[in-house]
Amino acid sequence: MDMTKIPARQGNYNLKNYETSRKDFDWEEIKKEFSWYKTGKVNAAYEAIDKHAEDPTKKDKIALQYSAPGREESITFEQLSKKSNQVANVLKKHQIEKGDRVFLFMPRSPEFYASFFGILKVAAIAGPLFEAFMEQAVRDRLEDSEARMLITTPELLDRVPVEELPQLEKVLLFHADQDVDGDKFIDFEKEIDNASDSFDIEWVDLEDGMLIHYTSGSTGKPKGVYHVHHAMIQHYATGKWVIDLKEDDIYWCTADPGWVTGTSYGIFAPWLNGVTNVIRGGRFTPESWYETLEKYKVTIWYTAPTALRKFVSAGDELVKQYDFSHLRHIMSVGEPLNPEVITWGERVLGLRIHDTWWMTETGAMLIVNLPCMEIRPGSMGKPIPGVDAAIVDNEGNELPPNQMGNLAIKKGWPSMMRAIWNNPGKYESYFINDWYVSGDSAYMDEDGYFWFQGRLDDVINTSGERVGPFEVESKLIEHQAVSEAGVIGKPDPERGEIIKAFITLNPGYEASDELLEDIRLFVKTGLSAHAAPREIEIKDSIPKTRSGKIMRRLLKSWELGLPTGDTSTLEE
Ligand code: PRX
Repeated sequence: MDMTKIPARQGNYNLKNYETSRKDFDWEEIKKEFSWYKTGKVNAAYEAIDKHAEDPTKKDKIALQYSAPGREESITFEQLSKKSNQVANVLKKHQIEKGDRVFLFMPRSPEFYASFFGILKVAAIAGPLFEAFMEQAVRDRLEDSEARMLITTPELLDRVPVEELPQLEKVLLFHADQDVDGDKFIDFEKEIDNASDSFDIEWVDLEDGMLIHYTSGSTGKPKGVYHVHHAMIQHYATGKWVIDLKEDDIYWCTADPGWVTGTSYGIFAPWLNGVTNVIRGGRFTPESWYETLEKYKVTIWYTAPTALRKFVSAGDELVKQYDFSHLRHIMSVGEPLNPEVITWGERVLGLRIHDTWWMTETGAMLIVNLPCMEIRPGSMGKPIPGVDAAIVDNEGNELPPNQMGNLAIKKGWPSMMRAIWNNPGKYESYFINDWYVSGDSAYMDEDGYFWFQGRLDDVINTSGERVGPFEVESKLIEHQAVSEAGVIGKPDPERGEIIKAFITLNPGYEASDELLEDIRLFVKTGLSAHAAPREIEIKDSIPKTRSGKIMRRLLKSWELGLPTGDTSTLEE
């Protein structure tokens, strides 16, 4: 079989033809499918949950199918609506108002989702954090966003420097096992149980704030990518077209809500479309994920290359132990999807795996392989209806097919970020004329398929997680033995890239395995596990430019044995 082009399967897809779907496309038409078109009122929590809870034919449908080691729950739209109303009442009681930032730092659980919608219902802005974050990562985000409130659990509390965050007024604790002081710390469950389960939702404007996701860049602290309720139009539409959600689907997005995929596609796309959403807590193993697919008869699965590569390594035999006959559609996001993985999907599952490309900043999918399209393994696909993509040069001029350049998107799609929190300069730096410039390099072939080539900056993509080298370097040099540090991404067959650190030692320190392990753990416990370098190498000096910038590109060339290119700016 020719694996360079995999034809579309026959299917009753929501979106049937790529070309015609793009013709005369108007986002305004999509808006008409929502009730705000009639009322002028909007709130994504209403559209995702309450609307279905008000519908007598839908209210008892399972919205959230939760499973984690030792816990399993099926929660209906009506139940989720009521629970989030209770949360909203508690937030209101504690004076949370429109536009306030309320952060969530807790495991993926039914409480997380009820809280998330409770936050939106009072028109506050939700800030979900990865459960794996350690103190520095938590502090940076709460400080920058000036969060007034944090929802967390006692287990995670020692990673929150509450005393050093003056703007943080309240900490709401789920599963508080002992009495809490009640002034700054609140027993959240107790208050939720005592709260009314009806709530007058705060209606907001399409352009009012909904969400902040922090993400890494190549320099400085993580940046707060700010999204508004308007984004839901695109979550809903891509849920229909790309994910192909239909009434009876059982959908599973494996991403954590600390990552934008876990909100745009783990929360909004499925629930705006009213389908049953499987949410799985706990750790990844190929067996446990296969079990989840089988047990809940998942029909649509959205996952990531790093997981898919692990399934490939786990072998074909393992797959045969499970029944995946109900599975009909698979998608991937976060890193380049290797053609080998697509071949594996065809061979072992009998299904094509559809790559999708987008970013935290773009809020929703932009370049995709629709079910109705031919797949070209290795390509990210084509822009969705209502989105124009191009390859541009550094001045914003469009380049012809097959020429490499900046992957850029014409401004104005609904789910585009509206700001970088507290940092207008950074926000502006993404744009050249009418183009949003992604920071990815790519080319487009004659047929309009886009092919990812790499990042244009030093951002590292390890197992689909964006890690900024600067953050890791900053943490490394906080270790008493480390004098200077330079951090790069090193290609890795399973993780895409791993983090490799080059360091110099302070006088009086001797290189040893124990010391390197101690340094690694220091980053892991200070920042987060995914930011900890898997390899650390000690050097006599770190290459820097004359202006003192670490030359990561040079470190990378050395590491990979590549030509070092222009080193004229290298410090003597
Ligand atoms: O480099 C691209 C890579 O991930 C970056 C975005 O990371 P993040 O904001 O964490 O992702 C949010 C959820 C999508 C991009 O700039 N990336 C994402 N999808 C793909 C990809 N690289 C190659 N192929 C993809 N499909």
